[in-house]
Amino acid sequence: MPSTTASGSTSFDTGSSGPHWTPLPPPHPGLAMGFTKNIFTYDELATATRGFDRSLLLGIGGFGYVFKGVLPNGKEVAVKSLKAGSGQGEREFQAEVEIISRVHHRHLVSLVGYCMEGEKRMLVYEFVPNHTLEYHLQCKGRPVLDCPTRLKIALGAAKGFAYLHEDCCPRVIHRDVKAANILIDNQYEAKVADFGLAKLCAEDNTHVSTRIMGTFGYVAPEYASTGKLTEKSDVFSFGVVLLELITGRKAVEIDESLIDWAAPTLMQALDGGSFDAMVDPRLEGNYNKDEMHRMVSCAAACLRHAARKRPKMSKIVRVLEGDVLLDDLNKADTKANVTHGSGDGISDYDMHSYNKSNRSSQEFSSGECSMSS
Ligand SMILES: Nc1ncnc2c1ncn2[C@@H]1O[C@H](COP(=O)(O)OP(=O)(O)OP(=O)(O)O)[C@@H](O)[C@H]1O
Ligand SMILES: [Mg+2]
Repeated sequence: MPSTTASGSTSFDTGSSGPHWTPLPPPHPGLAMGFTKNIFTYDELATATRGFDRSLLLGIGGFGYVFKGVLPNGKEVAVKSLKAGSGQGEREFQAEVEIISRVHHRHLVSLVGYCMEGEKRMLVYEFVPNHTLEYHLQCKGRPVLDCPTRLKIALGAAKGFAYLHEDCCPRVIHRDVKAANILIDNQYEAKVADFGLAKLCAEDNTHVSTRIMGTFGYVAPEYASTGKLTEKSDVFSFGVVLLELITGRKAVEIDESLIDWAAPTLMQALDGGSFDAMVDPRLEGNYNKDEMHRMVSCAAACLRHAARKRPKMSKIVRVLEGDVLLDDLNKADTKANVTHGSGDGISDYDMHSYNKSNRSSQEFSSGECSMSS
């Protein structure tokens, strides 16, 4: 964690130099999004956040503190100060950040700039005003999200991930898909946060990470056990987010993963049974069966144990939109993707093993991850 001084400034450990630097694509025309520049000085960000005032602290995540700030032009931003040991030298950090800052989509939180001064590393994001999906689903006393809003959030987030996986060049694997990384705006549109961040903060190859890149309860089994990373790892984690939207439960409750809790009822529901046993009781039965069927079917397909059998995000988008038949989830992107058994279920998933297998593999070298972007 960064340490905060009496004056409110934040100090960091030195990052080591990265192994390579790749040429950058040409700047996106909308890069600055109304800002005159996208490299900020530390003093500018200190001013924007009133000296990193604690009252402006939005939250503390795995990578550091996030403060709300206001730029001189009045634009609200979220300033994420990366904690010690992010492990990157200036050139590699700059190269990665500039790639991320060129990714713009209505369902992705834009990175509007960054600060890199000495050992300090900060990212400046557009401010998304209405908290996170986790907040809306889990915070007590919140109005219940109705079913159409849940579907709208699922669809928006799916579009964001589909863009990262299939339309970006280079492709981006998120690595930390979870409800806390889906921000919500005032119209209840989803905006995916923190894409590219895991890569940016990947530790030095020679070090063994004590924190799996990703969050327990969401991490795909193959990623947890081997560190092998593909877009399909994100698809698996998105399946967990869908389960959260369907059930209103947390990804992990005490010692049971949501996947383990939901698997039996998910199978029954898809075999023609009722959805009532798994749907969030706070909806009091007020949901459209067709919409729920689409979300449940997508969750089951995303959670298939074999990564190659999971659908691409673009297919999830089309199914959630109702543009294609649910059967298309079983027609695969590749021939190898056809499932056995009930087809649209997670019958090839060892439903009792998620807790055990993923908990026991919390430690591996993050340097082994083969990011395909
Ligand atoms: N762009 C943003 N706009 C508004 N609030 C934000 C923004 N980014 C982050 N936040 C707030 O800051 C909190 C902390 O975010 P952060 O990403 O550091 O942690 P996290 O998402 O819980 O975990 P992780 O480090 O794994 O992403 C979030 O829960 C959210 O409330
Ligand atoms: Mg986050």
